[in-house]
Amino acid sequence: MNFSSDNVTGVAPEIMAALAAANAGAAASYGADAVTERLARRFSEVFEHEVAVFPVATGTAANALALATLTPPWGVVYGHRDAHFQVDECGAPEFYTGGAKLRMLDGDHGKITADDLEAAIMGRGVVHHAQPATVSLTQSTEAGTVYQAAEIEAIAEVCRRHKLALHVDGSRFANAVAALNRSPADLTWRAGVGALSFGATKNGAMAAEAVVFFDPKQAQELAFRRKRGGHLFSKMRFLSAQLDAYLADDLWLRNAGHANRMAKRLAEGLAAVPGARLRHPVEANEVFVELPDPVIRGLLADGFQFYRWDNEASVVIRLVTAFDTASETVEAFLAAARRHAERLPAARRS
Ligand SMILES: Cc1ncc(COP(=O)(O)O)c(C=O)c1O
Repeated sequence: MNFSSDNVTGVAPEIMAALAAANAGAAASYGADAVTERLARRFSEVFEHEVAVFPVATGTAANALALATLTPPWGVVYGHRDAHFQVDECGAPEFYTGGAKLRMLDGDHGKITADDLEAAIMGRGVVHHAQPATVSLTQSTEAGTVYQAAEIEAIAEVCRRHKLALHVDGSRFANAVAALNRSPADLTWRAGVGALSFGATKNGAMAAEAVVFFDPKQAQELAFRRKRGGHLFSKMRFLSAQLDAYLADDLWLRNAGHANRMAKRLAEGLAAVPGARLRHPVEANEVFVELPDPVIRGLLADGFQFYRWDNEASVVIRLVTAFDTASETVEAFLAAARRHAERLPAARRS
């Protein structure tokens, strides 16, 4: 009954089992254990590239550490106006970079475009201006959409011309890979991405994310930044065990594929609910839908949980599906939405 967030979920059984297995006996601390050492190889295989991997416990830490490594204190980070790192991280990117400027761009359905980025870049070499340094994309986006590989490549081309680093906030990267049916490599380094905040918590882990750099030389200072930022875990094996199990046997893609299918089903079913209008294309595991207010109140009274995403113009709710969303819950939600909508006088249904 709970569509509030993919953060409200429990832990995938495979990851809980890996945590229990990692709990046997003593292991070297601060990442010198066997599971952490295996992790770098596992990530390199998944991304078909040598990588540097730094497990951390939150997406905010992953973003802030990655951005700080890529951006000097006098640099500019470009991103979408709704990006988590701008809206929901309490100034962590500014803090960890030592005061870099965030320059936010508009864009439909949570995405920025190469043209808008090109138009926003200014002031290179002018001592009075903060210096263009980094672009951060969210994949999948805050609007539940995904960047196609070609869109990332076009943005990366602008980055190359202006000597900017390209970072991806992949808190829901698994959902994007599952949705696009492209390899993790195609959606990152092959498209021109230099660093990725690789999420796992929302998709079945207990608390584990990883900062991934595709040029390990670029990541040399990250080890020190992570320690200084309080994210070098002494019992690192427990973070690494989660990520190791997450990648094993494609658990990450199986979990995300299920979540995406549940969101697709919600979107299809909502098409038959009078008065329902999707706000964004449903491409990953989030559904933003405009509904008549009495329908929303009816659903809440039935016990369904979700956040309202209203603005001045309309009444919108966000539904997030996850690896453990049951199809029965989705069908029950759709049936209840239809029931509440059909009770409304015809004039209020559109
Ligand atoms: C797009 C995005 N990035 C990053 C995060 C990570 O946040 P947290 O620091 O809560 O793990 C979230 C979590 O909601 C998110 O939605």
